[in-house]
Amino acid sequence: MCGIVGYIGKQNAFPILIKGLHRLEYRGYDSAGVALISPENQLNIYKAKGRVSKLENSCKSKDVSGHIGIAHTRWATHGEPNHSNAHPHYSQSENLALIHNGIIENYVVLKEKLIQKGYTFQSETDTEVLVQWIEYIKESNKTDTLAAVQLALKQVIGAYAIAVIDKQHPDHIIAARKSSPLVVGIGENEFFIASDASPIIEYTNKVIYVEDEEIVILSQSGQPKIISLSNVEKTPQITQLEMDLQKLEKGGYPHFMLKEIFEQPRTLRDCMRGRINVDCNNLALSGIFNHKEKFLKARRILILACGTSWHAGLIGEYILEEFCRIPVEVEYSSEFRYRNPVLYPDDVVIAISQSGETADTLAAIELAKKAGAFVYGICNVVGSSISRNTHSGSYTHVGPEIGVASTKAFTAQVLVLIMMALAIGKERNSISQKQYEQILSELDLIPEKIKSILKQNQAIEDLSKIFTYAHNFIYMGRGYSYPIAMEGALKLKEISYIHAEGYPAAEMKHGPIALIDNEMPVVVIATHDATYEKTISNMQEIKARNGRILAIVNKSDDNIKKIADYIIEIPQTEECLGPLLSIIPLQLLSYHIAVKKGRDVDMPRNLAKSVTVE
Ligand code: AGP
Ligand code: GLU
Repeated sequence: MCGIVGYIGKQNAFPILIKGLHRLEYRGYDSAGVALISPENQLNIYKAKGRVSKLENSCKSKDVSGHIGIAHTRWATHGEPNHSNAHPHYSQSENLALIHNGIIENYVVLKEKLIQKGYTFQSETDTEVLVQWIEYIKESNKTDTLAAVQLALKQVIGAYAIAVIDKQHPDHIIAARKSSPLVVGIGENEFFIASDASPIIEYTNKVIYVEDEEIVILSQSGQPKIISLSNVEKTPQITQLEMDLQKLEKGGYPHFMLKEIFEQPRTLRDCMRGRINVDCNNLALSGIFNHKEKFLKARRILILACGTSWHAGLIGEYILEEFCRIPVEVEYSSEFRYRNPVLYPDDVVIAISQSGETADTLAAIELAKKAGAFVYGICNVVGSSISRNTHSGSYTHVGPEIGVASTKAFTAQVLVLIMMALAIGKERNSISQKQYEQILSELDLIPEKIKSILKQNQAIEDLSKIFTYAHNFIYMGRGYSYPIAMEGALKLKEISYIHAEGYPAAEMKHGPIALIDNEMPVVVIATHDATYEKTISNMQEIKARNGRILAIVNKSDDNIKKIADYIIEIPQTEECLGPLLSIIPLQLLSYHIAVKKGRDVDMPRNLAKSVTVE
């Protein structure tokens, strides 16, 4: 959600900023803009509603010279996505330009005060209020920009990652963060800032992760300085990045999402690497091992997450309860943080997040930590805020996920939860050795089984043509397949904009079955598991009302062939591993339907990859 890039150095800033914005496009945005200080000390701002390429084209005839600049992709929270609300925003005198990711919650009060002092506004954003407020403090207190930023941020309530440039001091970028991500890249006499490392890695692998309520001062000469809001200077902690630029590219696929779906045999193998040794019947998760006592004594496990990560959490509930016999609750982070929950110091909290930056999950973690709970993170982005703010955790290790619709991160989150359940179950003696070994050796076969499902890509694409007419879809499953029904439905709505709902199959008759007619596609996950027979009965109920059934079945299932209109076959596996296979055809189905409908698959409307505002 929203992207920030900044550059100061000897090179021309504009091409670096535009490339950086392109790299951040996957986060989701609706408009883009750039501010540059030219060699003649002009502060030029250019903006465009829509894509970064539109901004780039509109700048062709403009003066884009300058070695210092900041750029932004906006995901509107205050004011519609249009030219005047796009960032950067000028201060009243047009001496300052500012970009911002987040929300200034007390902007109304500040804006009223500024209006009384004669300030006027060009946009409806909370961000413009901040830049005006900084200038107001600067002028009324007769201080420099740094002190004004410090004072202003002390008065601000909300979340921000900001960057400010000042045409009267064209040799500085001032940046700061609170609850929104910000990374500084350190090159040879040149420095970068960005919302994540992807715009930076092509220039340097040395970065500083800015912490909450820290201000960074980047200058043409000298190293970055970090000071706190209360003016305490800190020593910058430089981290070495291990990111591969090639992994960010599409690698011959038409979309990142398709590439990421196809990567899953490898990403799951990567996620198991060094953790599972089938030959020795051994599984080692250092994050668990180093905090064994916490899991052995846990009164309860609470899983907190949003969206797809929440669906992975639901699967985690089934697995952890089955193999560890510890009660598990799964909650949306956004609900948990505002409802005064009962928490015990012997609770273990598992926070799941691909990006590691989801604002609600971060806030929920803080709440759990304050109550004394032990917090374990499952994140994909290395060095992300959640991974740094949890007591322990496991990375999913699937590499950058660029498509807004999560695919490979989801299967790896489920895999980590399976490995956790096996590791904890073994420590607690709540899983039999036989079952433990069986699941471990079956896990080893999962990547090959996914490959065999991916071979049906063409058949699934053909099938997708049949369904482009639909305005609604229902997905049903039971047991481990119920969260998969919800995840399948979420994938479809996110990228095709078709309304879809996931239900536990037996719940249909309590209401939703009223929706069934001969137009309604019903996707049923009907693999051979404990509730197989029951699911068949639920399918019969749909068929009796003329619903059009697409069933995900195990190979050679003649029973279901007689009931379903269409089938997709997947290999059989252990019941608890079923989600790793059954989600694959549903990811492909959503993808192909969305492509057939001409949707922007990797960057669906209104969505952001990293939801850094609450
Ligand atoms: C996934 O397809 C979605 N775009 C979304 O639901 C996502 O899972 C959610 O925003 C949580 O993100 P996180 O895993 O980065 O915390
Ligand atoms: N709240 C700001 C706005 O609506 C920033 C949004 C963002 O993070 O992109 O302009």
